[in-house]
Amino acid sequence: MTKITVNDNGPLRLEGDFTITDATGKLFGLAGRQVISLCRCGQSANKPFCDGQHARQGWQSACEARDLPPPKPRI
Ligand code: FES
Repeated sequence: MTKITVNDNGPLRLEGDFTITDATGKLFGLAGRQVISLCRCGQSANKPFCDGQHARQGWQSACEARDLPPPKPRI
């Protein structure tokens, strides 16, 4: 199972069983990490990973969990 937590004013935290690939499908080597944070503010110098820049920049975004509407059918 993989858990993704949308941290207030910070990154997406992934925990559990996951892989991360680039756009070509090449795997990022995560050195066995089972917890990792992905940048959500766009300011990390180590994208896609969080480097703490969100805090230094005072970036703010709080996302409360909610239900999405059903997906639109693809034509
Ligand atoms: S969320 Fe941490 S550097 Fe962007």
